[in-house]
Amino acid sequence: MLTEDMTNVPNDLEAFWIPFTPNKQFKAAPRLLAKAENMHFTSTDGRRILDATAGLWCCNAGHGRERIVKAVQAQVAELDFAPSFQFSHPKAFELASKLANLFPGQLDYAFFTNSGSESVDTALKIALAYQRARGEGTRTRLIGRERGYHGVGFGGISVGGMVANRKWFGQALGGIDHLSHTLDIERNAFTKGQPEHGAHLADELERLVALHDASNIAAVIIEPVAGSIGVYPPPRGYLEKIREITKKHGILLIFDEVITAYGRLGKGSAAEYFGVEPDLVTTAKGLTSGVIPMGAVMASKEIYDTIIGSQADERLIELFHGYTYSAHPVACAAALATLETYKEEGLFERAASLAPVWEEALHSLAGEPNIIDIRNIGLMGAVEMSSIPGKVGHRAYEAMRLGFHEHDIMLRITGDTIALSPPLIVSEEQISQIIDKLRKIVHAVA
Ligand SMILES: Cc1ncc(COP(=O)(O)O)c(C=O)c1O
Repeated sequence: MLTEDMTNVPNDLEAFWIPFTPNKQFKAAPRLLAKAENMHFTSTDGRRILDATAGLWCCNAGHGRERIVKAVQAQVAELDFAPSFQFSHPKAFELASKLANLFPGQLDYAFFTNSGSESVDTALKIALAYQRARGEGTRTRLIGRERGYHGVGFGGISVGGMVANRKWFGQALGGIDHLSHTLDIERNAFTKGQPEHGAHLADELERLVALHDASNIAAVIIEPVAGSIGVYPPPRGYLEKIREITKKHGILLIFDEVITAYGRLGKGSAAEYFGVEPDLVTTAKGLTSGVIPMGAVMASKEIYDTIIGSQADERLIELFHGYTYSAHPVACAAALATLETYKEEGLFERAASLAPVWEEALHSLAGEPNIIDIRNIGLMGAVEMSSIPGKVGHRAYEAMRLGFHEHDIMLRITGDTIALSPPLIVSEEQISQIIDKLRKIVHAVA
């Protein structure tokens, strides 16, 4: 029996319709957070909760970082809002230039959004607009991947492949295909880093090209490391093959890096980490370390030049797309301060040097009850447990609940997998704490 302390719990929990959460259960035993600093949240009943998930894969610099807090406070007092349609403000340009430097190769143009879902819809629209602008308007098909997560917009759930996120919402967009997912527990279980088997799955793209003809296909969107489904590092050679095939057929490649960008793999992006340069990259989460909602789509020079160049009349808009809060000044200030924090504290390098420690620690859980796979890359990790027959997801849900209420740790779950992504400021000692707590929790739910 859990003994949830109801101190500081609001009297009425009814009106807030909580996203991606079993509302009835949550309202009966809420998990409420009051404060956050560095690697810890403080719950409303005063317990320090170790953050093993960077909030929701986003607080890469940790919590309550002074530089970011001060930048936000100063910005909101100085320029609280500036429209991005027909007007702008200096920090938007400064941030775009910094991002152009951070992302590899030709990914030199930033389109600002407010979330990962908006980044995905933006990238899909840019892909379609690009194909049309270069005279290939028949290229309208989009290709995603099974088990992919690309947010919750209609574009994102259409190319996405997580069944629960799609099945309630009708047909969504037409003209979509999905590649197979790359999880192969039978052959790759307990692989450290990228698995050996699965590069051949990229060849499915050739099959789809043969089926539809390349002249009808606009873009492929994939997460370089599938995150939300439970951390699937790409099989060795897979991303390279996808890049080769897309290039050969004039199909754009979009990397959805909402989780992997900004240091999660020890580099500015997965594109840099894997040495594979896509045409578009979607980002959000780590851009402001979760402090203010913001996303950015990075586009290649070729895409920018083609779309901007397609409008001959200089007084007319080139791309009919944008959000009221695109490049919001407070978000830009937060992002600039976040990027400075990453740089000054060497957090990407820190993540890279901690990755082997993380890997060893995580894999020390092999052999504990019900664990059927452990996966890791950079500072991402997943511990997959077998499901209780007929009750898929119950075991991990219980692990998450016990984690918060009894072991003072925040865990993220998907199906019966526990997904982990600590802030990049995590210490070796805190990695050990995470693993010790996990070990106890896994035993508790056995
Ligand atoms: C790869 C990927 N794309 C898109 C999204 C959606 O981001 P948001 O929740 O900010 O809309 C997520 C969120 O987890 C994600 O992991």
